[in-house]
Amino acid sequence: MERKLIAAGNWKMNTDYNEGRELAKAVVSGLQSSDALVVLGTPYTHLKNISVIIKDISTIKLAAQNCHQEESGAYTGEISAAMLQSCGVDFVILGHSERREYFGEADELIAKKIDIVLKYGMQPIYCCGEKLEVREAGKHEELVGEQVKTALFHLTKEQMGQVVIAYEPVWAIGTGKTASPAQAQDMHHYIRSLIQEKFGSEVADATSILYGGSVKPDNAKEIFAQPDVDGGLVGGAALKAKDFLAIAGSF
Ligand code: PGA
Repeated sequence: MERKLIAAGNWKMNTDYNEGRELAKAVVSGLQSSDALVVLGTPYTHLKNISVIIKDISTIKLAAQNCHQEESGAYTGEISAAMLQSCGVDFVILGHSERREYFGEADELIAKKIDIVLKYGMQPIYCCGEKLEVREAGKHEELVGEQVKTALFHLTKEQMGQVVIAYEPVWAIGTGKTASPAQAQDMHHYIRSLIQEKFGSEVADATSILYGGSVKPDNAKEIFAQPDVDGGLVGGAALKAKDFLAIAGSF
């Protein structure tokens, strides 16, 4: 197992089908060879088309932004892991703070989503992170520790080896306010130590832990340079190919 450097874009509910296609093409054509993996987290409606656009480029992968926890059935409007897998999806972002905040998702549910995504051979990008009041109260490690334990500690070592973690302090998402490189490093180190205690050093060393929250071309290098930061989950700046490519080139 080997730890991967990853620049993942989370497009959220942005771009229509044509805009999404153009954005993916612009990333493909502008990508310089690098050791980092580039992941495009697109809306569901774009997945199949973008899987075709990126199919010959081994360093670009496709992510969905959510997935239902059940196999199939009477869940009007939901999307299953089997559906995603059949569209060529490699990664699924799970537990994003916007899913937690607006759709009431908690770690018990996210744990089930992680299970089904793994069952279908895709890799979860598990998001965790504290709100501002929790950080101000000095309880951020405690909270993120609980999130990580509830969502991930039931996995086997082999399963954990497939999981990417994204630490996204909620106060830094979409706010233009990033965690300092030291704050990111401290939390990433803490998360890796939890993974190590539970799953052992080999798994912990191979786990990619991404930072998310206002990553931009002008701050990516300093954040990615931290020893326990293995890349970024990028929202706003992933919507402009030039900015996203600059971030992907910041390792
Ligand atoms: P942002 O979003 O880069 O716009 O802060 C990050 C995220 O929500 O994943």
